[in-house]
Amino acid sequence: MSQHHTDPQDANRVLIFDTTLRDGEQSPGASMTLEEKLQIAELLDEMGVDIIEAGFPVASNGDFESVQSVSRVVKNAVVCGLARAGEKDIDRAGEALRDAKRPRIHTFISTSPVHMKHKLQMEPKEVLGAVISSVTRARNWTDNVEWSPEDATRTEHDYLCACVEAAIKAGATTINIPDTVGYSVPEEYGALIAMLRNRVPNIDKAVISTHCHNDLGLAVANSLAGVANGARQVECTINGMGERAGNAALEELVMALKVRQDAMPFDTGIKTELIARASKLVSTVTAFPVQYNKAIVGQNAFAHESGIHQDGMLKNTQTYEIMTPESVGISKSTLVMGKHSGRHAFRNKVAELGYDLGQNAVEDAFRRFKDLADKKKHIFDDDIVALVDDGISAGEGDIQVVALKIVCGTEGPPEAILTLNIAGEDKTVVATGDGPVDATFNAIGQLFPHSAHLQLYQVHAVTEGTDAQAEVSVRLEEDGKTVTGRGAETDTLVASARAYVSALNKLVVKRKKSAPEALRAS
Ligand code: KIV
Ligand code: ZN
Repeated sequence: MSQHHTDPQDANRVLIFDTTLRDGEQSPGASMTLEEKLQIAELLDEMGVDIIEAGFPVASNGDFESVQSVSRVVKNAVVCGLARAGEKDIDRAGEALRDAKRPRIHTFISTSPVHMKHKLQMEPKEVLGAVISSVTRARNWTDNVEWSPEDATRTEHDYLCACVEAAIKAGATTINIPDTVGYSVPEEYGALIAMLRNRVPNIDKAVISTHCHNDLGLAVANSLAGVANGARQVECTINGMGERAGNAALEELVMALKVRQDAMPFDTGIKTELIARASKLVSTVTAFPVQYNKAIVGQNAFAHESGIHQDGMLKNTQTYEIMTPESVGISKSTLVMGKHSGRHAFRNKVAELGYDLGQNAVEDAFRRFKDLADKKKHIFDDDIVALVDDGISAGEGDIQVVALKIVCGTEGPPEAILTLNIAGEDKTVVATGDGPVDATFNAIGQLFPHSAHLQLYQVHAVTEGTDAQAEVSVRLEEDGKTVTGRGAETDTLVASARAYVSALNKLVVKRKKSAPEALRAS
């Protein structure tokens, strides 16, 4: 087994470029609030991600503000902002990154015949001119410039080489090769990287990067083929979030390189023990569930069901495990505490689970933990995580759930008697609906009229057993803005009301802030 290198200059070091906050956020419905993006950025930084793509500053004021705020909190990683080839895009990215310790502008333009003709309606010559002018302009802001030929895998090779050479000549220090539509296969993608290394005369002046989409389920395989052929940066997202079928999953790339050092002698600087936490955080804030059998972070990734496997595992874990759950930060969900556990033990537990909460937040979580312990006999790590996340989600807001009573069953329409505190005043209403959840949401609508549409209502049990907490996610959409609220409670309907109200509170904040121009890159 080779030695562990973490020096980014090392020839075998693969840089991890995380784009969860940019391409990942482009997953339909996966928008995040500023606070959530900052939480994710800080965790990515702590994990050792080399470059964090924080957003697309020209897309909206909200995106600009996120890139600016991420630039201010990130301590070690390079912070990157995306820009199309136009001057306004590049200047907005440059401005948003002003406070970053290590800023990078990532500028891109399409180079495939189909994109140039139908999307850009530009001649190849004009596109080549735009490559040079965009990279040159970006270099006026920073000497760390990445250039991408969008739809590179469907671009003619001679033209791709000419564009890459021109971008490097104009000052690009990273050349990213997107498989924008997820069309490539590993051999072909690896050969493309090798072709660029062989044919572009100044290629040694830039780091080659992969950016693979997962439409055929090949994003990770294609990225690794790129690495085998000389790419030394991989673009990826936590849980493989991203446009359509998503991007290459960070956790899969990193663990493939770590576990199969013998076949792929490359290193990353990632603290793999933080992977499970990052996966859970991203899934929670976006309400995108992680598929049960997802590699590395799925609920079943380390579960051994069959008798033969269990028997083997008891004799020696290496019989069926190629990596330990601990190596990705999964510890067996342990029975943690009960009704009699004290404040001190609770605070330690919360810290051990990776939260850095202020005094008030700990007090609030502790109070809710005690309430939970009254209702639920066994409290597990996952219960504490749900409870703390619920508190973070509820956060500050003008609307709070005070009381909820439901009448339902086989007789008569379900009825919700709900009291909300709105801007300091308690208001109560009785509403009916097609079911108890519908009645509850109708009651909220009567007390706080709004035009948002319910896009997603999702319930999942935090642990096993009929006394498990229900973790509810509610996604609301209003004028193209989406927000996700969460609530966790042993009572599913109370959790539902809390989740809806948490989403409404976020929407109220969003209404005050943003003026988006509907603008997206792929
Ligand atoms: O998939 C893609 O082509 C992109 C570019 C903006 C790099 O996301
Ligand atoms: Zn992409």
